[in-house]
Amino acid sequence: MKLSSVVAALASVVSATILQNGQVRITDYPDTVIDPAGYTFETYSPSAHEISYKGRWDSKYISWWSAPGLKFGFTGEYVAITFGPLTSNTTLVGYRVDGQDWQFTNITIGATHLFVSPSTTGVNITAPIDPSTFELRVTNWAYGVQIDAVHVAKGESLFKIPNYGRTIEIIGDSLSAGQYATLEGLSSYTYGLGAGLGNTEYSLTAYPGICLFDKQCYGNLRGMFYQWFRTSDTSGRAIDIWGDNPEVWDFSKQPAADIVVINLGTNDNNSANNVTTAGYVAQYTMLIEGIHAVWPRAQIILISLWEGFNTIGNTYEQSSGFYTEIYKIYEYFNLPEYLSNPILYDPVKNTTYKSFRPSAPFVSYFNTTGILQHNDIGPQYHPTDVGHIKLASHLIQYIKLKFDWVLYATGPEIQHDTLYWNDQQDY
Ligand SMILES: *[C@@H]1O[C@H](CO)[C@@H](O)[C@H](O)[C@H]1NC(C)=O
Ligand SMILES: *[C@@H]1O[C@H](CO)[C@@H](O)[C@H](O)[C@H]1NC(C)=O
Ligand SMILES: *[C@@H]1O[C@H](CO)[C@@H](O)[C@H](O)[C@H]1NC(C)=O
Ligand SMILES: *[C@@H]1O[C@H](CO)[C@@H](O)[C@H](O)[C@H]1NC(C)=O
Ligand SMILES: *[C@@H]1O[C@H](CO)[C@@H](O)[C@H](O)[C@H]1NC(C)=O
Ligand SMILES: *[C@@H]1O[C@H](CO)[C@@H](O)[C@H](O)[C@H]1NC(C)=O
Ligand SMILES: *[C@@H]1O[C@H](CO)[C@@H](O)[C@H](O)[C@H]1NC(C)=O
Repeated sequence: MKLSSVVAALASVVSATILQNGQVRITDYPDTVIDPAGYTFETYSPSAHEISYKGRWDSKYISWWSAPGLKFGFTGEYVAITFGPLTSNTTLVGYRVDGQDWQFTNITIGATHLFVSPSTTGVNITAPIDPSTFELRVTNWAYGVQIDAVHVAKGESLFKIPNYGRTIEIIGDSLSAGQYATLEGLSSYTYGLGAGLGNTEYSLTAYPGICLFDKQCYGNLRGMFYQWFRTSDTSGRAIDIWGDNPEVWDFSKQPAADIVVINLGTNDNNSANNVTTAGYVAQYTMLIEGIHAVWPRAQIILISLWEGFNTIGNTYEQSSGFYTEIYKIYEYFNLPEYLSNPILYDPVKNTTYKSFRPSAPFVSYFNTTGILQHNDIGPQYHPTDVGHIKLASHLIQYIKLKFDWVLYATGPEIQHDTLYWNDQQDY
């Protein structure tokens, strides 16, 4: 079936019942709200240099896009965070200490949440990670949190955790944002790729319904060709907070990406959105030129679109969209005449210009045909959790073989809620 109704989840009620394979999904995560008056804390402002923000956060310390997060080291056995008024109420976040499994809780606007206390598993173990590391990630793309303050126990401190030495950026739509996956962003193949490589910083600039071409697609007013250069995403929340004047993203806030993965065009290839093939190819080309201008050393991987499955007679066949177009874009960027005289894109002037510095090849093609099968796509046209894991695994291996990246994630949980097994030998 074709991916035909990827509609952006606009501000809907978060607390609706989720039916998962026909069963009610249990979402009664522990309530972590506390009254801070009952504690004596050492308090840090959101601008404290010890706090590392992951993904895109704006100047008001509001999170955007899919699975943005924060990380810091701390001493003692307490971590609490106070969330600001521009937090989306009841947003589900994942958080963890050191190499322990993800824990989940829903955030309340304006509240202080206690994430770590002496009863937290592993918090009193000081080896091999010392001081302890705290990490938090927002699970949903449309919702976000605003950081007002970070607290540890009185007399204790935060520590800056240095960034890992390599960085990956993934640019996409709902397929990459994790829409309809169990834990959304934290179940997506993009998170599975970034976290699964291990010792890698990752930023998932993906939003449901968005086109690459800069026009209104489903609920999104702008396409990625415009929005990728902005801090906030295309949500209704972003329009409420920033109107039609979003902050320009300051790329120096995060380390330069070494690898950029682009999975865009599924929404452009839908007749509901009126994007022309010529327009898609032109702006895809300029987006790559813009990325190359921002990060001249980044390797850019173009993902072929899988577009769901069709029944063909008595079996199934993977579909595709802009199949030859994406391959031709890849070929174009590998032409010797392009590489000897690369063209770059300036988003401020919205013009291309010639760089007179020759470039080594920097664009590659990732063929998705044959990775997913028809039952890896759920009833809402998006990969199941298993489908996401397949995509992440293949991409990890591709990057390992092609770019010689070592796999550093060798133990701590990455995907949560995926422990399916059989404990019956005889049945
Ligand atoms: C917590 O978040 C989940 C996922 O968005 C949601 O299904 C659930 O209703 C929320 N719980 C509360 C108490 O808001
Ligand atoms: C936020 O959600 C909590 C828990 O569901 C609720 O008690 C509170 O009234 C909500 N606050 C706002 C401002 O909507
Ligand atoms: C950590 O706390 C747990 C639970 O309170 C306790 O059983 C364990 O002995 C403590 N471990 C250390 C190393 O202090
Ligand atoms: C697409 O074009 C048709 C015909 O011009 C128009 O009715 C429709 O509103 C357009 N849709 C979008 C999303 O631009
Ligand atoms: C989708 O892509 C295919 C080529 O793979 C093309 O034939 C078709 O016209 C495209 N459809 C739209 C709506 O862009
Ligand atoms: C940017 O330039 C492209 C190509 O020249 C054009 O199609 C597009 O409308 C321009 N965008 C803006 C916001 O001016
Ligand atoms: C993608 O993979 C499929 C399946 O192996 C193959 O038939 C197709 O030729 C490949 N496409 C490209 C552009 O390499």
